[in-house]
Amino acid sequence: MKIAVGADHLGLPLKDAVKAHLEAAGHEVVDYGVNDDTPVDYPDVAIEVAEAVAAGIFNRAILVCGTGIGMAITANKIPGVRAASVADPYSAERARMSNDAQVLCLGSRVVAPEVARIIVDHWLVAEFQGGGSTRKVDKIKALDARSVGGTLPRS
Ligand code: RB5
Repeated sequence: MKIAVGADHLGLPLKDAVKAHLEAAGHEVVDYGVNDDTPVDYPDVAIEVAEAVAAGIFNRAILVCGTGIGMAITANKIPGVRAASVADPYSAERARMSNDAQVLCLGSRVVAPEVARIIVDHWLVAEFQGGGSTRKVDKIKALDARSVGGTLPRS
């Protein structure tokens, strides 16, 4: 799978650990940085990665900041993107099955690398379950369409 990753300066070490884990599993990873600990504003990274997901360049992306929250809030502002800030494997699975979230947000100050690897694995293998969840996700997509003047974005 082709997966984008991105982080702010706080998320950098966990982003690199997740990137290594993904590459070891055979995924193609595109790294949007950051790659040093110079302070950066998390929205700058989240916007770039989320726009790439919305454009259909990636089906999945992982964003890391101190808590995962700022990345998720920002990514969810990009029409077509459903981002979930997750700190446990069950929520990771549900973010795919119930919410069809293409973006996983992690907090480097919340989850240890060992836990993050398990979260990522659960999120990657889980698929959207459709059924009753389709109607709900379609309502989110309708909101996206509203914010882009009635044109339904990808995904
Ligand atoms: C630092 O900017 C910190 O606020 C950020 O890494 C993240 O935790 C935001 O949600």
